[in-house]
Amino acid sequence: MGGCERVCTGTVQLHPTRHCNLRCRHCYSLSGPEERDALPARLLIDALADARAQGYGRVSFSGGEPMLYRGLQEVLRQARALGMLATLTTNGIPLTERRVASLAGLVDLIAISLDGRPETHDALRGPHAFDGMQVRLPLLRASGIPFGFIFTLTRDSMDDLAWVATFAIESGAALLQVHPLEETGRAAVETRGQQPDELVANAAYLAFMRLQDRVGERIALQLDLAHRDLIRAEPWRVYADAEPVPGDLPLAALVDTLVVETDGLVVPLQYGFPRAHALGRLGDAPLAALGARWRNEGYGGFRAHCRRVFEESLLDPEALPAFNWFEALSGRTAGQFSSSLSQYR
Ligand SMILES: C[S@@+](CC[C@H](N)C(=O)[O-])C[C@H]1O[C@@H](n2cnc3c(N)ncnc32)[C@H](O)[C@@H]1O
Ligand code: SF4
Repeated sequence: MGGCERVCTGTVQLHPTRHCNLRCRHCYSLSGPEERDALPARLLIDALADARAQGYGRVSFSGGEPMLYRGLQEVLRQARALGMLATLTTNGIPLTERRVASLAGLVDLIAISLDGRPETHDALRGPHAFDGMQVRLPLLRASGIPFGFIFTLTRDSMDDLAWVATFAIESGAALLQVHPLEETGRAAVETRGQQPDELVANAAYLAFMRLQDRVGERIALQLDLAHRDLIRAEPWRVYADAEPVPGDLPLAALVDTLVVETDGLVVPLQYGFPRAHALGRLGDAPLAALGARWRNEGYGGFRAHCRRVFEESLLDPEALPAFNWFEALSGRTAGQFSSSLSQYR
């Protein structure tokens, strides 16, 4: 495995609470106003120090709604002190003047969820969610904090892609990330049937390429779908190569994203990753100890799982090129795939 690419860019994704001002129909973390759980800031501060020592250079906050997490500033200060890049994903509504000011100098990018035209966005997020987000944008622009949008692509919102790109550019966004809906959490019930299938995913892939040609110089674009040929040529990207891993590499060279879920469970790559491959729970042991044990007892199984999914995913010669690798890894859907670039979620 080519280790160095991963060492400096490893990401720790924190989901400190499921408390949220919204209760979106598609929410994978089942968050909402009634959820009150929150991880102690101290636990996350210590975990970041351990992660930094293992080569993780970025932290991204998600949730729940990270802007409503009381320990946010404290944990962000730790990220700064450790020299980590910090981003957060928000529904945008809680970005009051006071809260935006509290983030100045502490975050490198704010990613705002935007799920399509106003009516599409509100259909997933509830009445007035679009207006409530849009009204915050002038303030955010004035703050000088770079911001982007994250578009959760569904079957119904496929046609909104070009509209979303125009909206993002006109709003002054630096980034547009497109991530396919995954039918997990509340989405498994409330938006069942909306996950892009193979045809929709591939149509999105082509539409995205056209968008790249048209506006790629005005905004950074990221699509969380992978191309089979690329994965076939570079299996190390999805942890599916057969190379032995040298024992002295930092953990970030072994797995580039660690996710701390709302109950402190640490999993590789993505929220909800199969529990058999979890590192363990913060609070039971420090991240350094969880990582050391996983390296010896869990990493081999994780790599074998990735290799198995890789082989199964590339088996079908008729399959269309774009697919969602994370989805395949999750064990929820066979032959479908999501990307390795979900840094801001
Ligand atoms: C769980 S939310 C937490 C952050 C914040 N509350 C927000 O909505 O932006 C993080 C991102 O995941 C996306 N998301 C939620 N459920 C999803 C699902 N089932 N599949 C794919 N993305 C999803 C949201 O749209 C959002 O962009
Ligand atoms: S997607 Fe974000 S805003 Fe919507 S309920 Fe989940 S955590 Fe809250």
